[in-house]
Amino acid sequence: MEAIKHATVIGSGVMGAGIAAQIANAGIPVLLLDIVPAGEANRNALAEGAIARMLKTEPAAFMSAQAAKLVTAGNIEDDLAKVAGSDWIIEAIVERLDLKQALYARLEAVRKPGTAISSNTSTIPLALLTTGRSEAFERDFLITHFFNPPRYMRLLEIVTGPKTDPALTRVVSDFADLGLGKSVVYCKDSPGFIGNRLGVYWLQVGVVEAIDAGLTIEEADAVIGKPLGIPKTGVFGLIDLVGLDLMPHINASLSKALPSGDAFHAANRDLPLIQKMIAEGYTGRKGKGGFYRLNRAGGGKARESIDLVTGEYRPERKPELAELAAGGKDRNALLRSLLSAQTKVGRYAWRVVAQTLAYAAGLVPEAAEEIAAIDEAMRLGYNWKAGPFEIIDALGADWFVARLEEAKLPVPPLLRSAVGRTFYRYTDGVRQYLGLDGAYHELRRPAGVLLLEDIKRVSQPVLKNASASVWDIGDGVLCFEFTSKSNSLDEAIITLLGKTIPLVKAKYKALVIYNEGTNFSVGANLGLAIFAANIAAWSEIEKLIAGGQQTYKALKYAPFPVVSAPAGMALGGGCEILLHSDAIQAHAESYIGLVECGVGVVPGWGGCWEMLARWSTSGLLPHGPMPAAAKVFETVSTATVSKSAAQAKELLFLRPGDGITMNRYRLLADAKARALQLAEGYVPPQPIELRLPGAAGRLAFSSAAQSYHRRGLATVHDLVVSDELAGVLSGGPADIVDPVSEDDVLELERGAFMRLMKTSGTLARIEHLLVTGKPLRN
Ligand code: NAI
Repeated sequence: MEAIKHATVIGSGVMGAGIAAQIANAGIPVLLLDIVPAGEANRNALAEGAIARMLKTEPAAFMSAQAAKLVTAGNIEDDLAKVAGSDWIIEAIVERLDLKQALYARLEAVRKPGTAISSNTSTIPLALLTTGRSEAFERDFLITHFFNPPRYMRLLEIVTGPKTDPALTRVVSDFADLGLGKSVVYCKDSPGFIGNRLGVYWLQVGVVEAIDAGLTIEEADAVIGKPLGIPKTGVFGLIDLVGLDLMPHINASLSKALPSGDAFHAANRDLPLIQKMIAEGYTGRKGKGGFYRLNRAGGGKARESIDLVTGEYRPERKPELAELAAGGKDRNALLRSLLSAQTKVGRYAWRVVAQTLAYAAGLVPEAAEEIAAIDEAMRLGYNWKAGPFEIIDALGADWFVARLEEAKLPVPPLLRSAVGRTFYRYTDGVRQYLGLDGAYHELRRPAGVLLLEDIKRVSQPVLKNASASVWDIGDGVLCFEFTSKSNSLDEAIITLLGKTIPLVKAKYKALVIYNEGTNFSVGANLGLAIFAANIAAWSEIEKLIAGGQQTYKALKYAPFPVVSAPAGMALGGGCEILLHSDAIQAHAESYIGLVECGVGVVPGWGGCWEMLARWSTSGLLPHGPMPAAAKVFETVSTATVSKSAAQAKELLFLRPGDGITMNRYRLLADAKARALQLAEGYVPPQPIELRLPGAAGRLAFSSAAQSYHRRGLATVHDLVVSDELAGVLSGGPADIVDPVSEDDVLELERGAFMRLMKTSGTLARIEHLLVTGKPLRN
């Protein structure tokens, strides 16, 4: 087997269905099987039901409607023999060894030897799963442990046995990486692998220490959350998310499997409160609520939380923690001062952090070959900003070990060996980690992985100001990085772009626009716009609009290729910069849209023109000026944002030739390769003219908006905004036969933008969004 071209997933529950969807998202057909439910006429009811559910759930499991068509439902009685046509069979049935073993025995009889078969088990050792199977089966068998939800969680733990074929493992892991976008972490065949072993220990310690210390759950989550770079769900909020009912099962299974000396046993106490909650149906967000709940009694929506002492719900209490206010701006100092505070909360934070980080250090080499695997598992499996060893580096190993000794807590040898140095270091531009042998080893990124983070550590920016930096990423390519808050666009970014263009022209081959923030860009900085509007600095606003238009246009017609590489949100002005690029290389999880109408303006940096040009020249619509303008009106007036890069293609934010990268780590390398490919014999685009529908078009759009309004789907100010948008997209009052140039439409964009900025409805929308983070429907 050289590649995965077809897959079968058995078990269509939470995990199996999600894994099947992600395989389909990679463009690979997949057969999804489950048992035949007793007394059910439709023998495929379970798998079919799972697919139907996935088409409705949010966040969506499928990236596009096309992907959903690649999943075929079946059952293990009628369709098991079909697995012979699969290169990879993934078992994701209930967590029971006897059932898994029985299924493998049946699969052994029908599957094609030499193709991969894996289990998604969270806790069962590989050695037990393959008991009773043939040598050939063992050669093809591995554990592939996905995290929930499989589309969005980037971690994949792989465990192989002594007999697993390395070549087959490589095929599976390459597909998981390139096709499914996962970061593969190899784990030893030890209980809970890495993520669950450490994650469950951390949660368990977090719960029992909070109970012992007499903390409220709000206090516990406030300290074991943001200050540590851990999602604000903290400990109790995360258990609500995962499901309280899963905890006793995983704990029992870990407790059975771990050697008696393991620190997990001391933390794994029976907790009557949790048993009572589960028994009463308080299993977390999927049940009636968990540690936190929304009490809807009496038609209200009261946020409540469990009192750890009485076990009763009470109104949620925002904790006021002086410990978090101390320490100044230095995050590491703040963290050290929190962990040193001789207060209830400080002592709790210290006990949880000390035990969790020390436990992590004890997992090498039992659960992981090296520390980087553990850090990666906690970053991608639990969304920690930094893994345990990175946190120790931030605290200082010396400080941490001294504190452990003071507290008379054990210090694992690996941790002791880090005293006087760090777990990670960069030497001569090479990233290294501290091994169990006490020496530093090179930490290589896989081929095809290029991270700006690495480049930034070992070089200086070529250009830089307060909101952006420009980096030399090698081979004659520069990378333009936004560095402003949420990567919002402001005058400084436009200015630096303006300086970058002549620099690339003089000395480089191509430009890539890319960053490693959560979001590529949330759009223009509205705080600045509202500030200018409040002091009636209209000419300043107009200057910014015109300046952005000219710079984006200069980028588009520059004599070198520009490739934009978004990941996460690319909204408003952040979307418009994509539209002016020669090519887009998008991460699969790209949420792209022109959302200006939502805040009461129209796209003003060429977004209207670019979308008109895309649809007019796409060949996808009937002839004539109306269909393209209507399509753009529909997308832009409703502020449509794609829910994936695949959907962005359907909306033409991405062109058919634009690339999609599944693995976030590979995005920059792919974008750079695309830029270098375009640089060969590059010819900039030629200006075009468009035929737009003119006054009659504007009337048609506005009456469509009116009818939305009558049906309660558009507000009063929506009408004002969409009328201005209609004016731009119809090409103004010009006659239908007059061709319209780019500059004509840019002028219309500016005019509409400025008129709308002066309306009280638009100002109210912007202010409301800035204050509440939510759109105002006025
Ligand atoms: P689930 O209970 O949602 O789904 C299990 C599915 O397997 C059900 O649809 C059931 O009808 C089917 N099934 C049971 N016996 C079967 C058999 N003999 N043949 C075919 N289908 C059968 O369970 P979930 O949560 O999806 O877990 C599946 C596996 O993934 C388990 O091994 C679990 O430990 C593991 N896992 C679960 C995670 C989670 O967050 N839920 C995370 C990672 C791994």
